[in-house]
Amino acid sequence: MCDNVKAKAKYNTWIRIYKLLIFWVISLTLLLVTVLPVHLFLRVFSGIIALPFIYISFILSYSIYQFAAIGGNYQSKIHDLLVAKVNGDGDGKGRILDIGTGSGSLIIKLAKTLPKSILTGIDYWGENWEYSKAQCQQNAKIEGVSDRIIFLKANAAELPFKDDEFAIIVSCLTFHEVKTRKNKTEVIKEALRVLKPGGEFVFLDLFMDRKIFGDEKELLNDLKKHVATVKNYKLAEEMKFPKLLLNKKVLGNATILSGRK
Ligand SMILES: C[S@@+](CC[C@H](N)C(=O)[O-])C[C@H]1O[C@@H](n2cnc3c(N)ncnc32)[C@H](O)[C@@H]1O
Repeated sequence: MCDNVKAKAKYNTWIRIYKLLIFWVISLTLLLVTVLPVHLFLRVFSGIIALPFIYISFILSYSIYQFAAIGGNYQSKIHDLLVAKVNGDGDGKGRILDIGTGSGSLIIKLAKTLPKSILTGIDYWGENWEYSKAQCQQNAKIEGVSDRIIFLKANAAELPFKDDEFAIIVSCLTFHEVKTRKNKTEVIKEALRVLKPGGEFVFLDLFMDRKIFGDEKELLNDLKKHVATVKNYKLAEEMKFPKLLLNKKVLGNATILSGRK
């Protein structure tokens, strides 16, 4: 690259491109069958089966556009909202942890907002995701905060930290993704284990999805046994979103849980 061209940080969206491609390939193949000279039943059947695939392909494409910086930039706006929910006592002098850091967008924003903070971003960076540790490090360097952030490969279900190590813990849309724990509430409790008493947490996830987290009230009551305070905020009431992003399959079930241990 030419020296005078400033590198730009790259933050992928939460929608995996390979997943989108699979849906479009299936949709277009089924559509193709409807115009082939095959039995009418097969053509009609393909057309009917194609409809949900086309619908999902459209929702995914639209979500990518709205999440990306070239579109609605909603991913960055949501991270800004989470950063705004962090008090960062004493300019955030304590250690900060981001669980499931992805491409580092949220933790880099925190580093910029709390200039005295020392931060750690963990992720398992599995092959099924289009994020990497190298990309996080590169992004932090480009954004001028690489001297204060460490990125570590780790599993959110078994954090490689002692109890009470962090002053602030954030996490965005990660707990529900942890495959190695069937009970996702246990993953939240693992995060709270490494938060020091009085420390702050701000978690965004699909907490209203009963299939993943069970009843939200029960979840809150359970968490109250482990923290001093906890509040829940429906994401849809915190920010204005295009209607389609509030589809239950996208952010319709998203809630922020924040409080202190
Ligand atoms: C929807 S992405 C969110 C990424 C990032 N928090 C953000 O807001 O941009 C979910 C993230 O969870 C990570 N993840 C999934 N399972 C994990 C696990 N067991 N331990 C750590 N990270 C995990 C994925 O690698 C991915 O980066």
